[in-house]
Amino acid sequence: MLPRLVVLSGAGISAESGIPTFRDFNGLWNNYRIEDVASPEGWRKNPQLVLDFYNMRRKDAQKAQPNRAHYVLAELQEDFDVTVVTQNVDDLHERAGSKNVIHLHGSLFKMRSSKDESLVFDIKEDIKLGDKCPLGSQLRPHIVWFGEAVPLIETAAEIVASADAFIVVGTSLQVYPAAGLIEETRDAIPKFVVDTKIPYISPRLGFNALEGKASEGMERVKDELRRIFAKQ
Ligand code: APR
Repeated sequence: MLPRLVVLSGAGISAESGIPTFRDFNGLWNNYRIEDVASPEGWRKNPQLVLDFYNMRRKDAQKAQPNRAHYVLAELQEDFDVTVVTQNVDDLHERAGSKNVIHLHGSLFKMRSSKDESLVFDIKEDIKLGDKCPLGSQLRPHIVWFGEAVPLIETAAEIVASADAFIVVGTSLQVYPAAGLIEETRDAIPKFVVDTKIPYISPRLGFNALEGKASEGMERVKDELRRIFAKQ
């Protein structure tokens, strides 16, 4: 039975793949208003603008390649039962070989009915205004918008609580409930946070901070985890 490694990843792990983050310099939220493109109100007001935003991001994600950080997580599946809980909507974790990926905020590569959220479809192409679901409603991105529920948060919290080791990588920990998952970790397990600008985490949670790019930091965490768990 392999020890359980759980990872909470954010946009920073895909930054070296050329996908913009949200809150860094020149991030997505510096160039778009969240309420226009990532909220139910924005969707109601101007669905074309929202479809354009996600169609553009889907194309960017398709052009991007996984980077070393994604591949390190896939390699750690040799030593651990790994679950990646990601806030990202790209598919770089999967394309690097991670098998258990939970997309808390949805996926660019799925769309769904605007009437029945259980009607979800895989996509690769653009969603166009006029594309209808079987119930006749406009198809929308399968993305959790601000103000919408995060259906997988309970599942993610249970998985985090069962972790024997935990990594936070590439997230500013500013968006809840995702950011609250760090509080679900058990006390006496190895915990690491990898970021170019380490976000504040209460010292009582006992995280080891590795400041630097995800591709470098994840290599160091991999070596450290293998050292710790080799002895056990
Ligand atoms: N390596 C490691 N970390 C990096 C790198 C890098 N190359 N580049 C940026 N970062 C870090 C930043 O320092 C920051 O802490 O990645 C983090 C990105 O933070 P955000 O842009 O806020 O992205 P994220 O935390 O994923 O946002 C969470 O907010 O807008 C919503 O739904 C959206 O899922 C998103 C959520």
